[in-house]
Amino acid sequence: MLETSFLNKQFTNPLVLASGILGVTAASLNNVIKNGAGGVTVKSISLEPRTGHPNPTMVPYKHFFINAVGLANPGIEKAIEELIKFKKLSNAPLIGSIFAGTPEEFGEITERICEAPIDFLEVDISCPNVSREFGDPFAYSVSAVEKITKSVKIKSKVPISIKLSPNAWNIDAIAKAAEASGANAITAVNTISGMMIDVHARRPVLHNKQGGISGPALFPIALKCVYDIFKAVKIPIIGTGGVTTGEDALAMIMAGATLVGVGSAVYFRGVDCFAKITSEMEEIMKEEKIKSLDEIKGVAHS
Ligand SMILES: Cc1cc2nc3c(=O)[nH]c(=O)nc-3n(C[C@H](O)[C@H](O)[C@H](O)COP(=O)(O)O)c2cc1C
Repeated sequence: MLETSFLNKQFTNPLVLASGILGVTAASLNNVIKNGAGGVTVKSISLEPRTGHPNPTMVPYKHFFINAVGLANPGIEKAIEELIKFKKLSNAPLIGSIFAGTPEEFGEITERICEAPIDFLEVDISCPNVSREFGDPFAYSVSAVEKITKSVKIKSKVPISIKLSPNAWNIDAIAKAAEASGANAITAVNTISGMMIDVHARRPVLHNKQGGISGPALFPIALKCVYDIFKAVKIPIIGTGGVTTGEDALAMIMAGATLVGVGSAVYFRGVDCFAKITSEMEEIMKEEKIKSLDEIKGVAHS
């Protein structure tokens, strides 16, 4: 009922772990598969290891998380080892993820990560928490998106998905530019910029002061982004942002997503949120007499 084909690869269900939520270790990625995910995305990897921002980096609220982890990761050498290990543990589709500071560096890390047995490559150009280091995210600019997509595409051995930002007012035009430059898919969206202030401490809750908002509060924003992108491009979309229930996942598919990224729901509902969300999807589909996800993909547009 939930089987999904994405760029010629079969997924047992459309839910994929979003990048950055459970790191890069083979054991933790495999645990997500055991808990019902159709596929996994690894934390975004850079050429060199990064420690990220000082604590506090992540604070939970009732309807959202705010984080400024700052792209902490063990670097490409260690990541390749873990991705090889993961593929020995599981046959499930594996989405690599990379980030870099320049188009040239994006090309370089693409070449390296393709040494690992990844099935797809997600390109993180939309992290809102590292602008002091890297400037505005590339995902805000059509010309930057074109340059990076081309430099990744030329080096990649696997299909690429460009991960976009809900902060871009013209996300549909940005998606179109990625498609025209060779992207095979779009991941929409990353976190949206925000901040919280602790009134007792009289200062921002995050050490980085500002961060990215994820979780249920992001859902309607992400849904609109996916809806707008679906109208603009022909390539498939990994709809991500605030998906917490089976109803949310089906709405994402009705907006036009093929796969559905699940991130903060892991913190809100536990790692078995994948099994919970898929069984909720099946329940609604039975009730609504929906036999397959193909039947409802983009149906909200008609
Ligand atoms: C703690 C944390 C770390 C994240 N790290 C990354 C990352 O390394 N690369 C990336 O592309 N997105 C990263 N994201 C964004 C998520 O992949 C996802 O796009 C976003 O959280 C929205 O989905 P959600 O509401 O289901 O969490 C991170 C999100 C969180 C909460």
